[in-house]
Amino acid sequence: MRHPSMSFVKQNTDIFITRSFTILLVCCMAIKLSLCFSNLPSSFKALNIQGHFSFDKNEFAARDFGNQFHFLPSAVLHPKKVSDIAATIKHVWQMGPGSGLTVAARGHGHSLQGQAQAPQGVVINMESLGGQEMMVHGGKFPYVDVPAGELWINILHECLKYGLAPKSWTDYLHLTVGGTLSNAGISGQAFRHGPQISNVHQLEVVTGKGEVVVCSEEKNADLFHGVLGGLGQFGIITRARISLEPAPKMVKWIRVLYSDFSTFARDQEHLISAENTFDYIEGLVLVNKTGLVNNWRSSFNPEDPEQANQFVSDGRTLFCLELTKNFNPAEAANIDKEIESLLSQLSYIPSTLFVSEVSYVEFLDRVRAAEIKLRSKGLWDLPHPWLNLLVPKSKIHRFAEGVFGNILTDTNNGPVLVYPVNKSKWDNRTSFVTPEEDIFYLVAFLPHAVPLSTENNGLQYLLNVNKRILDFCEVAHLGVKQYLPYYTTQDEWRAHYGPRWEVFVQRKSAYDPLAILAPGQRIFQKSMSVL
Ligand SMILES: Cc1cc2nc3c(=O)[nH]c(=O)nc-3n(C[C@H](O)[C@H](O)[C@H](O)COP(=O)(O)OP(=O)(O)OC[C@H]3O[C@@H](n4cnc5c(N)ncnc54)[C@H](O)[C@@H]3O)c2cc1C
Ligand SMILES: *[C@@H]1O[C@H](CO)[C@@H](O)[C@H](O)[C@H]1NC(C)=O
Ligand SMILES: *[C@@H]1O[C@H](CO)[C@@H](O)[C@H](O)[C@H]1NC(C)=O
Ligand SMILES: *[C@@H]1O[C@H](CO)[C@@H](O)[C@H](O)[C@H]1NC(C)=O
Repeated sequence: MRHPSMSFVKQNTDIFITRSFTILLVCCMAIKLSLCFSNLPSSFKALNIQGHFSFDKNEFAARDFGNQFHFLPSAVLHPKKVSDIAATIKHVWQMGPGSGLTVAARGHGHSLQGQAQAPQGVVINMESLGGQEMMVHGGKFPYVDVPAGELWINILHECLKYGLAPKSWTDYLHLTVGGTLSNAGISGQAFRHGPQISNVHQLEVVTGKGEVVVCSEEKNADLFHGVLGGLGQFGIITRARISLEPAPKMVKWIRVLYSDFSTFARDQEHLISAENTFDYIEGLVLVNKTGLVNNWRSSFNPEDPEQANQFVSDGRTLFCLELTKNFNPAEAANIDKEIESLLSQLSYIPSTLFVSEVSYVEFLDRVRAAEIKLRSKGLWDLPHPWLNLLVPKSKIHRFAEGVFGNILTDTNNGPVLVYPVNKSKWDNRTSFVTPEEDIFYLVAFLPHAVPLSTENNGLQYLLNVNKRILDFCEVAHLGVKQYLPYYTTQDEWRAHYGPRWEVFVQRKSAYDPLAILAPGQRIFQKSMSVL
């Protein structure tokens, strides 16, 4: 056993040494920081790259869809080649921990709380990364190779030239591959195909040391899994190989209403587990709506508004199940029968069946149409205090009871999505964290805030609703995980990752030991020890 006083002396010396060291370090950092920042343009201009840096007019890089956080970078790299990104990161890496300089990839800037920003650091404008074009490969297991700054809508159009399309989507396609693969990419196809991160064969990544690494399940698998859902912490994705399937031409787009959450959820769970089922399964909550017609995400068929309005006349909470069935014109004769048979297993309010027929592209790009409408009314570039939660199946009823129609008193500021997925489609080796149960629900609150409003559409009000929802989940021990997570302390991140925190930290120290990458996630801080 150690002598108590010895240990005390030792502890004190340790503290003393640590303190002096910290003071020294801070002094050095301050000196170095000012040196670096004043030399920033010249030091970056000296790099041998094909693209270029911009040092002013960088305001765009301090903006995102969330429109609540605005941090200006010192420089923006507009890369032409992967080697531009590697050279830039290597340069920052070689400056060492003292420079304080960080680097953020910016996809389409559709983050919600500054996740793609780099305060006084370097933002990499991924959309300018060309290099190799998109390359579609046919065969038994078709795939497409794309630059990571490519928008999903462009990938769709390119693949359609070959009669192919990616399998798993997001609801909105004007997002980049690198941006959604850093999160997960979840939509109504995830129950069948898993999220987008489950549909990638290979990645090319630039690590936090400036190394270019190709990775897959077979090669550099730890980096591959780490980067998927990795919130940009382990490397910058520069290329991705995405799994494809034959693309359908047409879609039957179906909506039905429920007045009872249990029946709605039971039908959703039935459909995601059924052998023969729909191709897309989502759902919406409608609280205190004055009309169903103009929901920005899914407008009802213009021929139906009167009928749709009937169901909201008493302002009760309704649940809308949204489904699609893909088909090709040659199969058109059978498709209605098939749908009829599938619908006959469900218990929706009989008079609330809405069916429309659109092209596959029109369906997948549906939110774009809504965006254009909202933009014309000045309702797009507003703050978006969104909250995305993953709720375990056994707790979804408790959640619904506490939130829909209680904490949440209306859904007029934006849609609220609710739909279940099966965890078996999620690879647990990726960085993505799910609730513990087999089945969990994605619940997405997607409001916009009206500036300066002190009513229930104002930013403060909506942020407070989010806080109340999170507090409710916490107090009721619902085992909820945030999707597109936002936390302000490392303790919260540790709790978010739970038993997987250790692996997350290990990967950070292996691939980005100086914590240069994606500072806007606020998980690790540069020049603080990762461990
Ligand atoms: C209208 C709308 C609808 C949406 N619908 C869905 C949906 O249905 N399902 C869903 O899952 N999500 C959805 N999202 C969320 C969306 O997936 C995320 O906001 C995503 O981050 C946006 O992609 P982006 O290209 O704009 O990424 P950015 O906001 O630019 O970046 C996101 C994060 O990833 C990092 N990053 C960006 N590119 C790379 C790269 N190449 N390599 C490494 N890290 C990188 C950034 O540094 C940042 O931390 C939606 C968002 C909006 C605005
Ligand atoms: C989830 O998927 C797995 C694998 O397909 C299956 O065995 C399981 O029964 C599913 N769970 C539910 C509740 O449907
Ligand atoms: C519905 O909204 C109105 C105003 O938007 C509000 O006064 C009313 O309390 C809401 N009803 C419920 C049940 O929350
Ligand atoms: C991942 O899932 C597999 C199979 O279901 C299981 O054996 C393994 O322990 C899981 N790993 C982690 C890290 O949870």
